[in-house]
Amino acid sequence: MRRKLVVANWKMYGSLMQCREAVPTLAKAVDPAVELVLCPPAPYLGTASDLASASALHIGAQDVAAQKEGAFTGEWAAPMLADVGCRYAIVGHSERRQRHAESDADVVAKAGSCVEAGIIPIVCIGETEQERLAGQTEAVLARQLGPLLEARGRADFVLAYEPVWAIGTGRSATPEMAQEVHAFLRQRLAQVDAALAEKVPLLYGGSVKPDNSAALFAMPDIDGGLIGSASLQTESLLAIYRAMQ
Ligand code: PGA
Repeated sequence: MRRKLVVANWKMYGSLMQCREAVPTLAKAVDPAVELVLCPPAPYLGTASDLASASALHIGAQDVAAQKEGAFTGEWAAPMLADVGCRYAIVGHSERRQRHAESDADVVAKAGSCVEAGIIPIVCIGETEQERLAGQTEAVLARQLGPLLEARGRADFVLAYEPVWAIGTGRSATPEMAQEVHAFLRQRLAQVDAALAEKVPLLYGGSVKPDNSAALFAMPDIDGGLIGSASLQTESLLAIYRAMQ
């Protein structure tokens, strides 16, 4: 049985007060059958971890450096995330790929440094609208996935399919569109290792809301969601979480 998870990506929103309010409520609502992962901005990770420590709620970072340590002002390393109690880190989010020019190789290096430190990477991939319209969706995803499968085929990771055109736009992929891509990704994983394909949770992300989450999560290859704006309200995040349960 594959893990099911709902991951909340607060992006650069929220506050210490919001952490103090949301984390205990989320911690109380978590049921071990479906993992819930909160990824607040980096300055709040330690506090969020402390508040979640007695519960099954997991805390994750939104990004991480590829290096273990060094003269990299403004960055943080995977062992530091482990140090403050994080379990997960998002890597390769399209906002990082686009605004910070992260390459597929950078993303794989980040995922690798997570695995070494005992942090589970949530690796994001997805096509732009232009690429989809040009019929390149599968080629783009195969390119983004390729180095990851070569380098980390057997390690523990989570894959998140986030079509760039669906992120923050209110235009989610339909459940059928998302399922088609997830089935393709599962098949690519199976080409490397059938057991791996059965094990890796595939999340869908991009305008997941309380009213579309149940239909998306009902698809056989969708094992959970990566939730942006709808995760900022605890009630709407919990509605989505319940849809996964
Ligand atoms: P959204 O963001 O739910 O606001 O579309 C998803 C994401 O960027 O992970």
